[in-house]
Amino acid sequence: SRKIIIDTDPGQDDAVAILLALASPEDVEVLGITAVAGNVPLDLTARNARIVCELAGRREVKVFAGCDRPLARKLVTAEHVHGRTGLDGPDLPDPTMPLAEGHAVDFIIDTLRNEPTGTVTLCPLGPLTNIATALEMAPDIAGRIAEIVLMGGAYFEVGNITPTAEFNIYVDPEAAKAVFACGAPITVMPLDVTHKALVTKARNDAFRALGTDAGVAVAQMTDFFERFDKEKYGSEGAPLHDPCVIAYLLRPDIFTGRHINVEIETGSELTLGMTVADWWGVSGRTPNATFMGDLDADAFFALLTERLARL
Ligand code: BDR
Ligand code: CA
Repeated sequence: SRKIIIDTDPGQDDAVAILLALASPEDVEVLGITAVAGNVPLDLTARNARIVCELAGRREVKVFAGCDRPLARKLVTAEHVHGRTGLDGPDLPDPTMPLAEGHAVDFIIDTLRNEPTGTVTLCPLGPLTNIATALEMAPDIAGRIAEIVLMGGAYFEVGNITPTAEFNIYVDPEAAKAVFACGAPITVMPLDVTHKALVTKARNDAFRALGTDAGVAVAQMTDFFERFDKEKYGSEGAPLHDPCVIAYLLRPDIFTGRHINVEIETGSELTLGMTVADWWGVSGRTPNATFMGDLDADAFFALLTERLARL
């Protein structure tokens, strides 16, 4: 099974992604979870990551706290989507498991240096601050990364935090720019894909019908999280953005995309954090990422429900 580090800012959809990974040991081995500031400030994302591990009955998972603000900008958060705690919806107990000792960035660097080259996959589900800081402090790790599979950006769907930017990229565009330039293989789950991973009523009923703590909590998280997208986009339900990253590791065949050039806008105030994705290959620039465009939503939800049932 593939060794992964989940870099995250939970967030209800991050939480579902973590649960999916922890439920899938035959496919992924979670070496550690690194928290970053994003949807809510770092103290809350580091707390929420541990709440989720405990929900999965996995207190031994190492959860590290990382960067508490973007490389060069003031932190922008998303309580308007995720609620005050970042994990509003279910009533889950405060975590009792401790944070792992040390900084998330050091854990990322040390893990990539200690494991054989090309065996560790990074799964960023929030702003790319921790990953960019690790690359800046230890440029040698870029060549040791198996793959970076991240949720961020958009092409046809354009933006959700500004008219042209997706939240994770917008919050730390300088970090995103560094990551997209690092030379490691990158696979991107943009809004174009994640806005198709919609939790309809029937799909949410299936989570609740699992009758387990995890199944019921996922249903309650979705109930909370979907009000934003329903109001904003008139969509049928909550988009499960971040679980697409983990689902790709389990079932790459349910996604399709193109290997293209993707650059990050960091200069323009108007389009800050835009992922300029050369879908039609008109720029002549070298491809640096596989940008997904579609998924088989029924297969995605079947997989997710089947795996969550194990927790
Ligand atoms: C991304 O932003 C966050 O709100 C979600 O957790 C997801 O990672 C979607 O734009
Ligand atoms: Ca996230």
